Amino acid sequence: MGEIKREGFANKIGAIAAIAGSAIGLGNIWRFPYMAGSNGGGAFLFVYLICIAILGFSVMMAEFILGRAAQRNVVGAYGKFGNKNWKIVGYIANITGFVLLSFYGIIGGWALKYIYLSITNSFSGKTSTQLGAIFSSFIGKGMQPLFWYILFMALTAIIILSGVQKGIEKASEIMMPLLFGIIIILAVRALFLPGAKEGLKFLFAVDFSKITGKVILSALGHSFFTLSLGMGTMVIYGSYIKEKTKLENVALQVIIADTLVAILAGIVIFPAIFTFGINPAGGPGLAFITLPNVFLKITGGYFIAILFFALLSIAALTSSISILEVLVAYFVEEKNIDRKKATIVTTIVMIMVGIPASLSLNPSRHLIFGGKSIFDWFDFFTGTLMLPVGGLFVSIFVGWFLDKNIIKKELKDNQLLMKFLSFTLKFIAPITVFIVLINGLGIIK
Ligand code: PFF
Ligand code: NA
Repeated sequence: MGEIKREGFANKIGAIAAIAGSAIGLGNIWRFPYMAGSNGGGAFLFVYLICIAILGFSVMMAEFILGRAAQRNVVGAYGKFGNKNWKIVGYIANITGFVLLSFYGIIGGWALKYIYLSITNSFSGKTSTQLGAIFSSFIGKGMQPLFWYILFMALTAIIILSGVQKGIEKASEIMMPLLFGIIIILAVRALFLPGAKEGLKFLFAVDFSKITGKVILSALGHSFFTLSLGMGTMVIYGSYIKEKTKLENVALQVIIADTLVAILAGIVIFPAIFTFGINPAGGPGLAFITLPNVFLKITGGYFIAILFFALLSIAALTSSISILEVLVAYFVEEKNIDRKKATIVTTIVMIMVGIPASLSLNPSRHLIFGGKSIFDWFDFFTGTLMLPVGGLFVSIFVGWFLDKNIIKKELKDNQLLMKFLSFTLKFIAPITVFIVLINGLGIIK
């Protein structure tokens, strides 16, 4: 009735592939090891898994429910069921998306560049120090990483332009299992490295004395980042899930797959770190410096490297499109701008926002504020602060304000699930996120 006919995911498998495609990305293979590495290894993993278990499922369900019930983008969804103030929460989500994709695209560009380096056999015969130098000189080169960044953003825009689902659902269905397969091969190989024991100990042994406010805040932020929560991605993707599909099945499968990929990436990277004498707290370059070391050790490593970075780029693309889609859907549905124009303009603005972040990785340390580069600030602002804030609001909204009959319909009258979510969304999620944010920001302690 008066609703525009919207394109949605074709079926449940397609929905899971696309949503897992959004979740599984650079967050698992690039960001997880680097976060764990700089936040005490096992201590980080422990808190992260707790966050996923108690918050991930509930917040994802809240976003799905909101999106599918509203059949809108995040701003439209809040606007449909809430008052004007709630729409502001939607706008905040959009701003987070802008900043998030601009820095996500930079790493996406690194992944593309590494396909190129693999093809040209640039890792061959290099020591671990030399591989580190290849990385740092590349990201510091100014124009070069910008070129790859713009290429990555252009690819993201092209996929979104070509109408989303058909291409992306299909691509995700094929690529995701392949990525999974390669990571398993790499993980098995990594277990035979001399540093395996030490690496696994670093990743899995929990030293409780290392659990600080910063570790908890980072783990909380990362649990939202890795599941694509807190900025409307799961609202818009939820709105594309077919009426008859059970939301809880989709959420569970996506969460399990995402967590597995992150842990597998850790099993590849940490043994290698200790084998090749790399600093686990080495920051954003960690995966890009460590993985080539592993490829050099493997028979057929030349081909595996190409395949791996190609899959990583694709995994990054299936995530970046989900961020761009949040914004494009907003302009199309709320501002009546046509899809093509919305995509092009958004992408161009986004590229501009990302340029200073990419340039801030220069070796002369220009564009550094308060000890962090603009790049690190973007990462921190979105991945650590804003996503939990978005998650906090969506929990409060669905837990306290959304009409119970709407929730009942979306959950197909599953009483147990309704009780569970009502408790977690009303109390657990808002209280936990609030306390962690306040603590982490040093307002209390
Ligand atoms: N979940 C993605 C990853 O782990 O790489 C990143 C991401 C996508 C974050 C979409 C947020 C988002 F809305
Ligand atoms: Na992820």
